[in-house]
Amino acid sequence: MPCTVTVGGFYGDEGKGKILAYLSIKDSPSLAVRGGVGANAGHTFVRNHVQYKVRMLPSAILNKSTKLLIGAGVLLTPRILFDEIKKYSTFERTLVDRQCGIIEEHHIRQDVESEHLKQTVGTTGTGTGPANSDRALRKLKLARDMPDLEPFLDDISKTVNDAIDQKSRVLVEGTQGTYLSLYHGGYPYVTSKDVTASGICSDVGLGPKKVDNVLVVFKSFVTRVGGGPLQNEVSPSEAIERGWTEYGSVTGRLRRSSYFNMDLARRAVNLNSATELAVTKMDVLFPSCVGKREYSKLPTVAKNFIQEIEGETGVPVVLIGTGEDVFDIIDRRSSDN
Ligand code: IMP
Ligand code: MG
Repeated sequence: MPCTVTVGGFYGDEGKGKILAYLSIKDSPSLAVRGGVGANAGHTFVRNHVQYKVRMLPSAILNKSTKLLIGAGVLLTPRILFDEIKKYSTFERTLVDRQCGIIEEHHIRQDVESEHLKQTVGTTGTGTGPANSDRALRKLKLARDMPDLEPFLDDISKTVNDAIDQKSRVLVEGTQGTYLSLYHGGYPYVTSKDVTASGICSDVGLGPKKVDNVLVVFKSFVTRVGGGPLQNEVSPSEAIERGWTEYGSVTGRLRRSSYFNMDLARRAVNLNSATELAVTKMDVLFPSCVGKREYSKLPTVAKNFIQEIEGETGVPVVLIGTGEDVFDIIDRRSSDN
């Protein structure tokens, strides 16, 4: 399938980074293009005991033949982008859209100093909300205004559309998660843009008919950072007992957690028109899944859980995360594995 869009089905931190890193190696797309808000997202994954973390570049960094693109809807924090380009040596294969917005220091200050944003919404403090606000007011600087971004500038929509027309594989990377969408999440405890599949495609400049697959990523339990309701939230001590404690990869804040929520999953399938699903961290819910790479080797309880998700949503679970490494995964796409 030439074009797959991947988005989070809950509140972000579903493990999209790992799924994207896997797909980039396994499917070797010619382009990986990032949509979403900006450096408020952190995608972390582990390959051969080395941890990788990106906040600006697509998670496809490990495949050197994949070009790394950032769509016009995404906000750039130039300092973070340059650090990642240098760290992962991607100078030759990184392109950003001329119309990406630019986050400046004053946006970050505004985000951190605003009582409403910091205390009530519980933002990541990365300046994304204030920058998108300036963009709506049509006073935000764009990538084309920044001489040091010149070597990377491109018309990302054209590059992506041309690649799809030539039947090249394109992996579109969403960030955050469905219920952090400005439009469809639990306002005001949301991020500053729509981050459902349609929003991510719009960030990149991709019309709805160009997309073949919409892969929605769930985790085997739900986590949330920042403010806002979380149904069936468990206490911090229960979270520790269950191994659900996680810390935000951008902010280091303790993530709140709850049981897998089928109502949220069904709604996410609709909001994103999911064609396939991934479920990550199955080894956390069912420890005997750890490291398994074949569906037949999963314990019955785990298979039942996957079948319940498929039955309730009507969408196949094609990727199942079973451990920390990018390749600790069950890939059911091309076999009855
Ligand atoms: P902002 O996006 O920094 O404005 O934060 C708004 C809300 O979205 C806060 O609850 C954040 O914790 C949450 N948020 C933003 N980006 C992410 C993410 O990538 N993962 C998880 N939560 C996020
Ligand atoms: Mg994250």
